[in-house]
Amino acid sequence: MNVRIFDTTLRDGEQTIGVSLSPDQKLAIAKKLDELGVDAIEAGFPVISEGELKAVKMITSEGLSCEIAGLTRTIKKDIDAAIDAGLNYIHTFIATSDIHLEHKLKMTRDQALEKAIEAVEYGKSRGLQVEFSAEDASRTEREFLKKVFGEVAKAGADRVNIPDTVGYSTPEYMAEITRDTVEVTKLPVSVHCHNDFGLAVANSLAGIHAGASCAHVTINGIGERAGNASLEELSMALKCLPYDQKYETNIKSELIYETSRFISKTVGIIVQPNKAIVGANAFGHESGIHTHGVLSNPLTYEPISPELVGRKRWLQVGKHAGVHGMNAMLAEYGVKPTDEQSKQILEKVKVLGDQGKQITDVELLSIASDVLGEKDLKRIVQLSGFSVSTGIGTMPYAFVKLNIDGQDHIGTDYGVGPVDAALNAIQKITGKISEIRIKDYGLASISGGSSALCEVTVKVEDALGNKVSAKSVGEDIVTTSVKAVIDAINRIMLKKMLQEKQVN
Ligand code: KIV
Ligand code: ZN
Repeated sequence: MNVRIFDTTLRDGEQTIGVSLSPDQKLAIAKKLDELGVDAIEAGFPVISEGELKAVKMITSEGLSCEIAGLTRTIKKDIDAAIDAGLNYIHTFIATSDIHLEHKLKMTRDQALEKAIEAVEYGKSRGLQVEFSAEDASRTEREFLKKVFGEVAKAGADRVNIPDTVGYSTPEYMAEITRDTVEVTKLPVSVHCHNDFGLAVANSLAGIHAGASCAHVTINGIGERAGNASLEELSMALKCLPYDQKYETNIKSELIYETSRFISKTVGIIVQPNKAIVGANAFGHESGIHTHGVLSNPLTYEPISPELVGRKRWLQVGKHAGVHGMNAMLAEYGVKPTDEQSKQILEKVKVLGDQGKQITDVELLSIASDVLGEKDLKRIVQLSGFSVSTGIGTMPYAFVKLNIDGQDHIGTDYGVGPVDAALNAIQKITGKISEIRIKDYGLASISGGSSALCEVTVKVEDALGNKVSAKSVGEDIVTTSVKAVIDAINRIMLKKMLQEKQVN
């Protein structure tokens, strides 16, 4: 069965506290979602502001392949605004639970039902596709919910949606009300689940299993309060979990990670590291037992292959590390210690781990080179020099000179601050050469005062998905940041060179 994916990142997702997108940002997200293969997007709530109307207009004029819906209350003015925004598909809603009727809408059940029917009829009379939502459906008295859905179906709704507005449903109850709704409407039914109890995906799956053919989701699960069911979790659960029935979606799963990163960056919400599918740690392994297992067969500790969602497996050393995982990491850089040397390197790693330290790839390599008696790690990129200028009334600007494999390269760029400018200038050079991008940047102050030592940790990634982390400690934030990035770039280039050698 093909499950329709209705993405509401641009509407419910944008209702996340602190998120507000410009029309250009909304359009860029809409294009990404379309590329990902969603069947429909909810582009926004056109009546709420001029900017929102403009954004939805831009999206409806773009010629995307997916269907585009806009949210409306059951109010004519809202539906007219949706039409003004170029929409031919509305998602109209009114609350039906007693708690919302009494305390928010100050309406009786019959009045709400009448409004719902009027809106559906009006939308249909204007030639629109109409999806009707009974807001707070899961806390609506069950017989009344059936009545509402039955009546809007008779009024001509094309689809109905069951919102679990405050994430209060259990999977069992979601299944029951989905069965009711399918039976009473005979229409395509959607489920729209919030994550207040961490059950949004489980509830959506239960609804689908009970007959819903569409799920409303957001990328990274963003949305009001604890968010909505996340697209990546739901679509991968449908694709990979051992259901009796085979489910499919039109999502191009290999684009999931890239889309998640793009949305995270655009909306400014960091994905928690342990988030399923898209979190930084979802395909990372540190413990010796796990890395050993994964190295002999990834299925031992990975339910799906990272490549399926556009990711790569990565290993980390630390106090839980084992010799197999550590040697596999070193081998990626062409370092092959003897058994005795491996033992010594691992001991040093564990001492650092016991001190609570996170060991970066570059640190592991320098421990290894100490043990192996190699003075310096091979460096492909040398920092020949850099300068930055910053101040009030002028945009921070940086000039960087790198020597890469004997050739000089110059990069200049602006940034929001001097560090950003310097790193942008470096990326201008390395981006051209090896498509290396800085993915993560962390800054910590080690001691107090204005002359405090700072510690910069960075992670860089190349076009092949290789990732390398590095750390640098120093007094000057810009110099320390530049050094950490150059260290990481050196390692990632070495890793890539070795991979290319192995292929040829
Ligand atoms: O969660 C919800 O109830 C909603 C409605 C607007 C459908 O987002
Ligand atoms: Zn919602």
